Amino acid sequence: DIYGPSRRNPLGRDYSRAIERDVADRSAALIGGERPGAGAIVGGRLIAAHQSPVTSPSDRGRVIGYVADATTADIDAAITLARKAQPEWNAIGGAGRAAMLRAMGNALDAHMDSFVALLSLEAGKTLNDGVAEVREAVDFCRYYADLAERQFGAPTPLPGPVGETNQLELAGRGVFACISPWNFPLAIFTGQIAAALAAGNAVLAKPAEQTPLVAAKAVLLFHAAGLDPALLALLPGDGAKVGAAIVNHPGIDGVAFTGGTETAWAINRSLAARNGPIVPLIAETGGLNGMFVDTTALREQVVDDVILSAFGSAGQRCSALRLLFVPHDSADEMIATLKGAMDALVIGDPANPSTDVGPVIDAEARQALVTHRERLAREATILHGCAAPEGGDFFGPLLAEIPSADFLEREVFGPILHVVRYDPADLDAVATKLASRGYGLTLGIHSRIEGFAERVRALVPAGNVYVNRSIIGAVVGVQPFGGEGLSGTGPKAGGPHALLRYATERALSVNI
Ligand code: NAD
Ligand code: ALA
Repeated sequence: DIYGPSRRNPLGRDYSRAIERDVADRSAALIGGERPGAGAIVGGRLIAAHQSPVTSPSDRGRVIGYVADATTADIDAAITLARKAQPEWNAIGGAGRAAMLRAMGNALDAHMDSFVALLSLEAGKTLNDGVAEVREAVDFCRYYADLAERQFGAPTPLPGPVGETNQLELAGRGVFACISPWNFPLAIFTGQIAAALAAGNAVLAKPAEQTPLVAAKAVLLFHAAGLDPALLALLPGDGAKVGAAIVNHPGIDGVAFTGGTETAWAINRSLAARNGPIVPLIAETGGLNGMFVDTTALREQVVDDVILSAFGSAGQRCSALRLLFVPHDSADEMIATLKGAMDALVIGDPANPSTDVGPVIDAEARQALVTHRERLAREATILHGCAAPEGGDFFGPLLAEIPSADFLEREVFGPILHVVRYDPADLDAVATKLASRGYGLTLGIHSRIEGFAERVRALVPAGNVYVNRSIIGAVVGVQPFGGEGLSGTGPKAGGPHALLRYATERALSVNI
């Protein structure tokens, strides 16, 4: 039973309580003061740590550490070590690997405060988001440990004629490249690694350019928790250079990627162009996520869930709400209540426990939102905007009205919510238009009528559907997460099938 006694959710924190906040402040000071370095970590050794400065999205004048890109020699060395160490790791079986992953889960839990502080400094995460992220990383380690034990134990006996024994076993594929985004620099980074390790692989981890420090801290913690350093290398650097070099390397046996749809296409093309073993790709990508509200929905509940889904984490979740569909009759009231709720949002320093919306990740991300806001002002209607502080990469949450889902060609990654008014008689056409964009990640429905939810669900394919609640914050083992179409390949992270694509299946048939 994967929900059995071995899996415990880590406890959260309440940083509004002075005593817990003290701990966070101390950790933040320690990390800021030390100016940590990140670089390639190969065989447990951190290489050439002091090259370019890493600054904070909420204050670009604040240098919080340094990073050096991995070189081709680092990639070669990491792959040589990983290939050598992987067979023994595979041979120890699911139970041995589970013990290691549980040790990592416990270590992460024990270091929660310092990770929360670093997530706030490097990725601009609010304290609540930071706590949720560390807890998710712990959950991934513990959940995949349980799956490893269950699915990678003794081979599964299969039927056969008298005198013949048949069995099926799972084994690691070899060396997995795990390429991750900046928006969950700990949870997704750790989740990919934990899944690949649980299935019996060695790992080359390529973090996002924006968040190498969190990644380096996590990799060193894996090693400190008992993982043979040869089994996990960190290779930071530019995606098109270091990421592409890893993907093109003949020594990798699989790729787990989370990030933008365009990047997944580029990786898929590189893998397809190989003349050699066929390398599988697990891709989790973007979304153009909608929520459909009908006239029976409870307005205050809708507004709470919309504010969290669209503006929580500064809208920088793949699961975040981008399009809110409201019937003509209730649209004006809904918009007025949304504006009031937006005015209550606290936007600013992510390390302040009262902050609801921190900065976006960098100047480029902010500029893309500014450009989109200019288009909305020209071609649609801006309904409301929140002021943003100066000095960092802040963008105030924005509410705009657009005529239909056709207006958006692709994901807009940040705190911008688009409202579409619809006539209930046209529901099928409106929903079909959203589905025709080709994404399929999250979908929200607010209604007290069961048939309405079923109807929308049938029209808009999505990996994660949420009825009468927010559409963000999938919990490991509770809402297995991942999309379809332009949103990804599956298997779902944090779900019972998560490890299978990281593994190869071997059948054995013996006649006596
Ligand atoms: P991105 O695609 O720009 O980068 C993701 C990673 O890919 C980074 O490590 C980057 O360096 C690397 N990369 C870039 N080009 C590469 C190449 N040619 N070869 C190999 N690696 C390369 O995405 P991002 O901006 O870091 O993250 C935001 C995106 O991630 C959004 O689209 C968001 O929706 C998506 N996302 C999806 C999920 C999900 O589970 N579906 C979760 C989080 C984020
Ligand atoms: N898994 C994350 C969520 O559900 C992206 O919000």
